[in-house]
Amino acid sequence: MTGRLSWLGLACSLAAAQPCAECHLDIVRRQESSPHARSLSPFPGSPMASALAGFRVAEKNGYQFEYGTRGVTARRAEDSATGTLDWAFGRGKYAMTAVGVFNGQFFEHRMSFYTQPKQPGITPGHQYGVSRSASTALGLVEQPPQAFRCFNCHSTGLRKTPDGGPDLTTMTPGIHCERCHGPGTAHIAAVRAKRPPAEVRKTIFNSGHLPARASVEVCGGCHRAPRPGQKAEAPELDDPLSVRFQPVGLMASRCFLESGKLSCLTCHDPHANEVRHEPAFYAGKCLGCHEHTARVIVACKREQRQDCQPCHMPDATPAPFLTFTDHRIRVAEAEAR
Ligand code: HEC
Ligand code: HEC
Ligand code: HEC
Ligand code: HEC
Ligand code: HEC
Ligand code: HEC
Ligand code: HEC
Repeated sequence: MTGRLSWLGLACSLAAAQPCAECHLDIVRRQESSPHARSLSPFPGSPMASALAGFRVAEKNGYQFEYGTRGVTARRAEDSATGTLDWAFGRGKYAMTAVGVFNGQFFEHRMSFYTQPKQPGITPGHQYGVSRSASTALGLVEQPPQAFRCFNCHSTGLRKTPDGGPDLTTMTPGIHCERCHGPGTAHIAAVRAKRPPAEVRKTIFNSGHLPARASVEVCGGCHRAPRPGQKAEAPELDDPLSVRFQPVGLMASRCFLESGKLSCLTCHDPHANEVRHEPAFYAGKCLGCHEHTARVIVACKREQRQDCQPCHMPDATPAPFLTFTDHRIRVAEAEAR
């Protein structure tokens, strides 16, 4: 059954932005190839499926994994178990992780495919060593609400089943227009009814009109915001892995706290949502607020200051092969002397 749904999902994905394309074609074009749009895909036919097919994957002295086009078998001597692999999470910047069904329950597969270096490896959060049985070797069971959360951050149009799990029949894989803007039916009807633009604009949610903090919290719904009550002035010292959660760092920086208007949208296009590796682009954003700060000229002891990011938003590698950009904009410790 899930296999059929996967293909249904693919068809929906191609059609996901169609209702908006008629009038917002340029945005649709940009968004459709973005990391967001590609953050979830049906496992069969995914890059993950073809990547795994080329490897012999086994636990050391333990279970061996055999991959077919839409499933995996864990085997050790006589003990074996087969689960379907239905979804590949992640576009593969760092890794792709498969989620499937075994015995009527969702499971997160034990092996992920890492992009650097290109090879399978244990999924973060899973235990090393030899598994207890073939069924546990397949991966970790996800209770319905857990599976819901997982899909909800990587897809569009998801509803809940009565047991709190993900209703995959309404889901479109990947993050598309209506995941951020809400349902567009009333909006399109308003345009067709020739209502004036000011009224049309009110028919669709746009977090760009919210105050900075609320706007950041919308992105933080998936990229994580600080937990309520969490008051870390230097979150990256409390928990080095928190640099993975850009809103946490950004919301602790003086640029955010004291300007009252810095948000993710100051620096990122929510539709292309690409990583540019273009420090000069970001320097322009910094100078939008700091150009006239005479103190900067004095404080940054440097002749050419066009590239602010390497000193004030340095790269951080909290775990092997994971490099993030520290979003708590500041005078980094190593620089301050
Ligand atoms: C039939 C044409 C049409 C279609 C289809 C359409 N829109 Fe729009 N959209 C408009 C018009 C017209 C405006 C107002 C433009 C302006 O600002 O003058 C607008 C504005 C918007 C805005 C800006 C609102 C604001 O206040 O800033 C968003 C966001 C938006 N549309 C999203 C969508 C999404 C998502 C879809 C698909 C579900 C969609 N639109 C489909 C015509 C359309
Ligand atoms: C529905 C959940 C969700 C929301 C809301 C969301 N993101 Fe994302 N974002 C993701 C996921 C998941 C990825 C990872 C895509 C992948 O690599 O598979 C991602 C990737 C990105 C990337 C690319 C990162 C990279 O390493 O290439 C940027 C930039 C980004 N998001 C910015 C934003 C901004 C800005 C907002 C708010 C306007 C936002 N996101 C809202 C889930 C979300
Ligand atoms: C709260 C929202 C959220 C939940 C829940 C969530 N993710 Fe993600 N996921 C993200 C965001 C945001 C990113 C991109 C930033 C990053 O790498 O941390 C991401 C990135 C990833 C990546 C790396 C993508 C790449 O291109 O390298 C994988 C793989 C992934 N998620 C799998 C999963 C799986 C499997 C689950 C459920 C077991 C899950 N995620 C649950 C938000 C979420
Ligand atoms: C990750 C969340 C996210 C997704 C996905 C997304 N948008 Fe947006 N969109 C935003 C945000 C945030 C803004 C406000 C940008 C700003 O004010 O700088 C915006 C602004 C807009 C606007 C009005 C301003 C402009 O740039 O013209 C339109 C129209 C729009 N989006 C349409 C779409 C369509 C169509 C899609 C799907 C192809 C889409 N959006 C997907 C978050 C998103
Ligand atoms: C929306 C406006 C805004 C933007 C954009 C902005 N800042 Fe700031 N920044 C501020 C304000 C306000 C302060 C606090 C008062 C001051 O020092 O001017 C500040 C403070 C700082 C500080 C001192 C931090 C500390 O902890 O003492 C540094 C360093 C800094 N900004 C660098 C940058 C860099 C680099 C960028 C671009 C990556 C940037 N800012 C973007 C508004 C902004
Ligand atoms: C002052 C500018 C600035 C602001 C504001 C900002 N970012 Fe970034 N972001 C960057 C830079 C610089 C990079 C490094 C990648 C590049 O060169 O494009 C980056 C990278 C990222 C990445 C890729 C993974 C990583 O950490 O390198 C994600 C995801 C992201 N930002 C999300 C967000 C979100 C969500 C917000 C709002 C909380 C936000 N950013 C606010 C400048 C900014
Ligand atoms: C070579 C590293 C380096 C570069 C590049 C750099 N800075 Fe700095 N910046 C520093 C250091 C170090 C300090 C702290 C100096 C001190 O405390 O005496 C600082 C301080 C600051 C401050 C705080 C001033 C204050 O005392 O309130 C701001 C704002 C700032 N820089 C903005 C920028 C901007 C904007 C850019 C890019 C146009 C930039 N910096 C480029 C190293 C750098």
